[in-house]
Amino acid sequence: MTPEAEIRRRIRKRGHVTFAQFMELALFWPQGGYYLTRDPVGADGDYYTSPLVHPAFGALIAVQLCQMWFLLDRPEVFTAVELGAGAGRLARDVRDYSRHLPAEFAQALRYLCVDRWAGPGLDSGLPRGEEVLEGRITAAGVPLRGVRGCILSNELLDAFPVHQVTVHQGSLQEVLVALEGDTLVTTLGEPSTPRLAERLRQVGVALGEGQTAEINLELETWTQEVSAALDAGFVLTIDYGHLSPELYSPERRRRGTLVTYHRHAQTDAPLRNIGRQDITAQVDFTTLDRAGRRAGLEPLGFAVQRQFLNRLGLDQFQRRLAALDLPRREFEANHAALVELVRPGGLGDFKVLAQGKNVGQPNLWGFAPGGPGEALLGGLPVPLLTPQHLRLLEGRYPQVDGEVALETLWGGDDAAEVGDES
Ligand SMILES: C[S@@+](CC[C@H](N)C(=O)[O-])C[C@H]1O[C@@H](n2cnc3c(N)ncnc32)[C@H](O)[C@@H]1O
Repeated sequence: MTPEAEIRRRIRKRGHVTFAQFMELALFWPQGGYYLTRDPVGADGDYYTSPLVHPAFGALIAVQLCQMWFLLDRPEVFTAVELGAGAGRLARDVRDYSRHLPAEFAQALRYLCVDRWAGPGLDSGLPRGEEVLEGRITAAGVPLRGVRGCILSNELLDAFPVHQVTVHQGSLQEVLVALEGDTLVTTLGEPSTPRLAERLRQVGVALGEGQTAEINLELETWTQEVSAALDAGFVLTIDYGHLSPELYSPERRRRGTLVTYHRHAQTDAPLRNIGRQDITAQVDFTTLDRAGRRAGLEPLGFAVQRQFLNRLGLDQFQRRLAALDLPRREFEANHAALVELVRPGGLGDFKVLAQGKNVGQPNLWGFAPGGPGEALLGGLPVPLLTPQHLRLLEGRYPQVDGEVALETLWGGDDAAEVGDES
C-alpha cells in the first residue's frame, strides 16, 4: 500500500487526517514513504545539504568535536552520534579529517550514524564508497544511553512532521487533509490538541488573522530523548529556522515556512507527488532551547552557519587555498564550494545551536571569537573536494542552473544575524 493509498484509507475511515499525520505518512510510511526509500540528497535526488557541498563542513565539525573531547578531559572513547545521518556523508568527512587532528582524539572517536532510513543497501544505487555502513543504526529515536561525547544533526529536525495552524475569524484552526470527491484537499477544523495553542502561548506568539504557521510538536520529546542518552557532553543541532518571534512574524512569514522539493525545484504543493517529494518546515529554535533547559541541556552557543564555520577556520581555509597552487579549475571549484557553505541567503544563514550536559559553560570554538587559534589551524591541511562532493561549476547537476537555482533550494531565507533575533 503506497503512502497515498494509506492516507486515503485513513481519511475515508475518519473524515480527515491532520497535516502532521499526512506528512508523517508521506515521508515515513514503511511502504514507499519518501525518506525510507531513497537518498534524497544529490544530483539524482531533490536537494543538497552542506556535507555534499564541501568536505570543509565535516572537517570543521571534526575540529569542534576535537575541542569537545578535550573539554571532557580527553576520554578514551568519545562517541559522536549523528541523528538523521542519511547516507553518512558527514560521518565520512568527519572521520577522514580526524586523522589530521591529535592522534589521541582520532583513536577515541566512535562515530555512530542513526537514521529512520535503513540506509544504503547493496542496490542503493549510491556510487561505491559513498555510503558509510559501519556504525549505522536504523531507528527513529535515540536508541542509546550513557553517551560521553556529542549528539549532532544536520537538517534532521526540518524533516519532522509539523502541524499547520491558522487564525480564522479570530480563532485558532488546524489545517486538515480531507477528500472532496476523489481529490485530496486541505480544510480547516478545531485544533486536534490543546498543545498547539499552548505552544504558541509558551513562545509568546499571537498569530495574525489569516496567518499560517507550522508547529513541530515532536521537538520536546526529541530533546528529552537526546538528553536522556547523554551522560556528559554536547548537542550540536544545525538546521534552517529562527527564534520564535522571527519564525512566526506576521509580517515576514504570513504564509508559514512549509515548502516541498522535487528534483531541485521548490514546488510548494504538499498534496502532489506524495512519497516522491520532500516536505519540510523551518525549525523553531526558541522551543528547542526551552525544551533543552527543561531536560537538563544548557545553551552554550547559537550562531548562523556562516559565523560558526568561519570561527572554526573556514575563512582561513579559503585564504590558504590560493597558496596551494592547484590547477585553476580545482581552485575555482573549491573556492566556490567554500563560499557556498557560508553564503548569505543560503546555507550561511542556517542556525547552529550548541547545548551541554554536565560540562559547565565552556566557550566553544565555533561560537567564540578567536576559534581554535593559529597553533592548531595553521598545522591543518585545507580539505579539498573529492569525487563524492558536489561540483557546482562542472554542470554535473543538469537540473541546477548555477547560483540562481541553488538560491531556491533553501527557500530564500532571510539573512538575519542571530543577534537580530534575540
Ligand atoms: C534532510 S535529510 C538530511 C540528511 C543528512 N543529515 C544530510 O545533511 O545530508 C533528513 C534525514 O533525517 C532522517 N530522519 C528524519 N526523521 C528522523 C528521526 N526521527 N530519526 C532519525 N532520522 C530521521 C531522514 O530519514 C533523512 O535521512
